[in-house]
Amino acid sequence: MIALSSDPQPARIRSALEAGFAEYMVKTAQVMPSLLEAVNRLVGGKASAKEAGGRLIVFLSAKGGTGTSSLCANIATNIALYKPDKHVAVVDMVLPIGSIANIVGYQGDLNLVSMAEMPLETLTPDFFLNNLAGMPPWHFHLMAGSPDPESGNRLKIGSIPDIVNSMKTAYDYVLVDLGRSLSRISMPVIENADLIALIVNTDSSTLSLTKTVWEYLQYKGVEAASVYVILNRAAGLEGLTKAEAEKIISLEIKKSMPYQGSNFALANNQHLPFSQKYPDNTTVIIFREMAKEMAELADRHVRKN
Ligand SMILES: Nc1ncnc2c1ncn2[C@@H]1O[C@H](COP(=O)(O)OP(=O)(O)O)[C@@H](O)[C@H]1O
Ligand SMILES: [Mg+2]
Repeated sequence: MIALSSDPQPARIRSALEAGFAEYMVKTAQVMPSLLEAVNRLVGGKASAKEAGGRLIVFLSAKGGTGTSSLCANIATNIALYKPDKHVAVVDMVLPIGSIANIVGYQGDLNLVSMAEMPLETLTPDFFLNNLAGMPPWHFHLMAGSPDPESGNRLKIGSIPDIVNSMKTAYDYVLVDLGRSLSRISMPVIENADLIALIVNTDSSTLSLTKTVWEYLQYKGVEAASVYVILNRAAGLEGLTKAEAEKIISLEIKKSMPYQGSNFALANNQHLPFSQKYPDNTTVIIFREMAKEMAELADRHVRKN
């Protein structure tokens, strides 16, 4: 209970607090922000979770087939291995169909669509910690994505901000696969991210689309320091060089992932992290470095508001 009164006298305030009110606020024209803050804090809900919670890292690309989902899952595993005392979760928000359940081999029916239909008060941090599947070799909990286009169209997007905030309270690192969408569902998530992994490859059409995406993100207030560009050679084509790619998108490329032939597809088909399937491949080192750098950049991010 919050007492709201035009009476500013200390005796009155004291007696209200002694009678059991949690807060006493003097009614003024400016009382609204403190009232909202107090409600959020006392109810233990959304706004406080946003400040107290874990780090949010989103993955996106300008085009499908760039390797966004494979990198998201594998980097999540590497963050969990690098920070063994931390809880890591992956949320698949790709519409109309998610693919991470398939990559990690999750077959249950808890997913973003079914959870967004549950009453919001059920979606507590404990609910996620207790119910989201942890696939043993991957070391993270997964909130699977939409299983089919029909479900994807049904997704209640109004619940997404609450789901993300609750996830951030439950987990130290929440990695969200947004795929190539800059939709109504992804923009609020991007704007709250501590780090944005932007996946590109070396063909000029993907790069010029990426430039457009980056311009849009800048217009939305995203700074270059929050963007972590990964060049993934998902196709065997030679394509452009790293320097040429950087010039087109006007962003620095932080890491490059070489072409792996069928290795990625094989690891994905067997539902194994790349580093478990090919422990001796030098790519394992790249994954490890990316995970370390990304976790540290996300940790260091200073949040606005
Ligand atoms: N570096 C790479 N070398 C070879 N194949 C890759 C590489 N990265 C991704 N792939 C393959 O490319 C395909 C698309 O990857 P995926 O992660 O689903 O991309 P997206 O999520 O961007 O659509 C998959 O078959 C994956 O195995
Ligand atoms: Mg994908």
